[in-house]
Amino acid sequence: MKSAIIGYGNIAKLHEQVLKGQGHEIVAVCDVNEAVLRNAPGQSHYTDYVEMLDREQIDVVHICTPHYLHADMIIAALERGIDVLCEKPLCIREEDIPRILEAEKNSKAQLGVCLQNRYNAANLAVKTYLEGKKSLCATASVTWYRDAAYYASGAWRGKWDTEGGGVLINQALHTLDLVQWFVGMPEQLRATIACMTLSDEIEVEDTAVILAGKPNQGFTFYATNGGATDCPVELTVRADGEWIKVMPKDVLFGNRHEHYEEGAMALGKACYGSSHGALIADYYDCVATGRHFTIDGSEAAKVVQLVLAAYRSQGKTEIVTQ
Ligand SMILES: NC(=O)c1ccc[n+]([C@@H]2O[C@H](COP(=O)([O-])OP(=O)(O)OC[C@H]3O[C@@H](n4cnc5c(N)ncnc54)[C@H](O)[C@@H]3O)[C@@H](O)[C@H]2O)c1
Repeated sequence: MKSAIIGYGNIAKLHEQVLKGQGHEIVAVCDVNEAVLRNAPGQSHYTDYVEMLDREQIDVVHICTPHYLHADMIIAALERGIDVLCEKPLCIREEDIPRILEAEKNSKAQLGVCLQNRYNAANLAVKTYLEGKKSLCATASVTWYRDAAYYASGAWRGKWDTEGGGVLINQALHTLDLVQWFVGMPEQLRATIACMTLSDEIEVEDTAVILAGKPNQGFTFYATNGGATDCPVELTVRADGEWIKVMPKDVLFGNRHEHYEEGAMALGKACYGSSHGALIADYYDCVATGRHFTIDGSEAAKVVQLVLAAYRSQGKTEIVTQ
């Protein structure tokens, strides 16, 4: 297929590698920074994404830009009937969710969002195992370390207006999404957020705690970018009284241990995992066959709604879906 990319930064290079490996042609790339376009693939380069969408014959456009741009870029592609695969998060503002869902409903094109950890072998096995089980609870923690240089690496990072938040909307989003995918969306939550390590450098939270749902039906979630080092993500589910401990490549179903090797190599940073390839292959197959891609607007909106409710909460009970 003919693909295009908007935003040729870190993650776009991974999309490029996957697309080339899967035999798709990148025909055009757009970035506001002309310097990065010098090394970009494709015959045509643009600094204005609307111009690119209007001029090019594109089957799928990949949105790899800072968070605050996702909503308008998704809508522009959907309005033109162009299939669009957007990096996470879907958007950063509550009011953008209905705008995106409306554009999706009125478009012949499909929207997909890169929540690639749903394609990890261990996570797929847990999801299958949980089918039909009731009384689901979970606890998860993301303990990572991000320094001042990381936030300084992009002007959009660490700011409410452009990143839309900190550890919850960015680094821990995949794990929070997995938690709700496994145990369901809570109606309400309580959360506190804090900036505990770099308050001179960033506006947003680097640490968060969420207590969601009600006793025996919900989850507890801890996340920080102020940890001593990057630890493996930990996630534990209790299903019908049994404990399931999920580590990146290992799962304990009660006392039974299963190890899962990923079929694909990890591309880019270790924290990206190795499932972009599987997600992109599945999305392109959906576009080619007309099958519905499951991580669509409403599915990707769930984790954003959780994060936004956590930001509103300030330690008080907050309804998740407004
Ligand atoms: N799924 C994952 O695991 C994963 C991993 C890393 C990043 N991401 C997501 O990918 C997105 C990009 O992150 P990144 O680390 O590549 O950021 P980045 O800052 O490295 O790259 C963003 C690029 O977008 C360009 N850009 C900014 N405004 C633009 C505009 N109006 N039009 C066109 N281009 C524009 C910038 O010049 C830059 O080259 C974010 O949403 C991030 O959360 C996802």
